[in-house]
Amino acid sequence: MLNIALPKGRLGSKVYKMLESIGYECPEILEDSRKLIFENSEAGVKYFLVKPSDVAIYVEYGAADIGVVGKDILDEGDFDIYELANLGFGTCRMAIAAKNEFREDFDRPLKVATKYPNIAKNYYNSKNREIEIIKLNGSIELAPVLGLSDVIVDIVETGTTLKENGLSVFEEILPISARLIANKSAFKFKEEEITKIVEAVKGQIK
Ligand code: PRP
Repeated sequence: MLNIALPKGRLGSKVYKMLESIGYECPEILEDSRKLIFENSEAGVKYFLVKPSDVAIYVEYGAADIGVVGKDILDEGDFDIYELANLGFGTCRMAIAAKNEFREDFDRPLKVATKYPNIAKNYYNSKNREIEIIKLNGSIELAPVLGLSDVIVDIVETGTTLKENGLSVFEEILPISARLIANKSAFKFKEEEITKIVEAVKGQIK
């Protein structure tokens, strides 16, 4: 039995459809319910629905053998896992954004609001730019609008959230996409099953 951590939400639906198309179907998952565990013993698969930012934790600790997670989460954390494939979907960009009229004052530390303090610190360290991090958990775009920060470091997908709040991208930091990851010891003990899924997944990537 292969235990798979699926991110809840939009990314999870895409991942499930891909896994279903390569023989790991579990149609009950598509029903509207509050269940978090789904199993298809014939296909040899058990799915766990987890918060996207927690997928790598379930995999690192071995509660799940494999999982799918955004590269943003992997770069922000420091997870002891194997990254097996870039799935090529769930694509977006990690970017610095600010109010359209923003002009940077280099005589003082830059106030940066973000859900990704490590990515932001690494980026500005590499530029030798002194910053002050304001860690938020969502609706990051509000911070520069309300004067809480100068800029934000956040993911941009369609750009709609920025546009509708009078912000624009100043610089792109990293391209992001979904990655298939595995627990290190599961990869040893379930190598055949995991390799099979990785090969099938790679065959689906355009
Ligand atoms: C993410 C991100 C941006 C938005 C970008 O937020 O933090 O706010 O999506 O998408 P867009 O470029 O297509 O508008 P999310 O939806 O995860 O909600 P959050 O504000 O709770 O973080």
